[in-house]
Amino acid sequence: VLGPRFFPLAGRWYRRIFVDLDEVVRCLPPLPSGALVLDVGGGDGEIVNRLLRQRPDLRIVMLDRNPRLGGSLDDEARRRVVLKAGTSLSEYRGAGGQPPDAVLISDVVHHVPVGEREAFFADVRQVLGDAPALVIVKDVEPGHFISWLSLMADRYVSGDRQVALVSQDEVERLAVAALPGFASERTALLARNPPNYCSVFRPAPPLTAPE
Ligand SMILES: C[S@@+](CC[C@H](N)C(=O)[O-])C[C@H]1O[C@@H](n2cnc3c(N)ncnc32)[C@H](O)[C@@H]1O
Repeated sequence: VLGPRFFPLAGRWYRRIFVDLDEVVRCLPPLPSGALVLDVGGGDGEIVNRLLRQRPDLRIVMLDRNPRLGGSLDDEARRRVVLKAGTSLSEYRGAGGQPPDAVLISDVVHHVPVGEREAFFADVRQVLGDAPALVIVKDVEPGHFISWLSLMADRYVSGDRQVALVSQDEVERLAVAALPGFASERTALLARNPPNYCSVFRPAPPLTAPE
């Protein structure tokens, strides 16, 4: 109804109730120069707009199971981002998709049905190559009024009846189980913009034996 000009504006205003996307981007860990970022469940692309403004050297592939993807990307981002709409992680890998340097999973896990979350993180493991890569998960901590409101909005405005919030503890359990040898660390997002949280998973450095 709002069309391509007004929908992104309305979307930005609506999303601001739940999350400060500038704060999300500020909390991301440093990424190597020219890194390939796989944005899983990229949605409208508002995070990618911000990320590319700060880090124009990044190469970004957005992937989403939904056939509509990147509707809010600005012109510059649209030229630079590779869009893989209607694509799952296993399809990305099956089609020979390049292993990314970082996987970004922002506000996606609470849309993955609870019984499919282990398989989802196993698929994340499968798209990583042999080189060290980061996995970044942003989501919403249950137990706050804004979390409940976002759950209701997802269920009754976005119409996703399967949505179920996932705690930071549970995300860390799922990710560490699927990513052997990875260690998790918490960013400052939960303190800066509750109830949003962000955890980063990276290969743990090998233990050095004492001489
Ligand atoms: C709330 S949106 C988040 C959009 C964006 N990542 C952000 O934070 O602004 C959730 C997106 O995840 C996608 N999604 C959910 N499960 C998925 C899956 N298993 N694989 C790929 N995309 C998925 C949905 O289609 C939707 O576009």
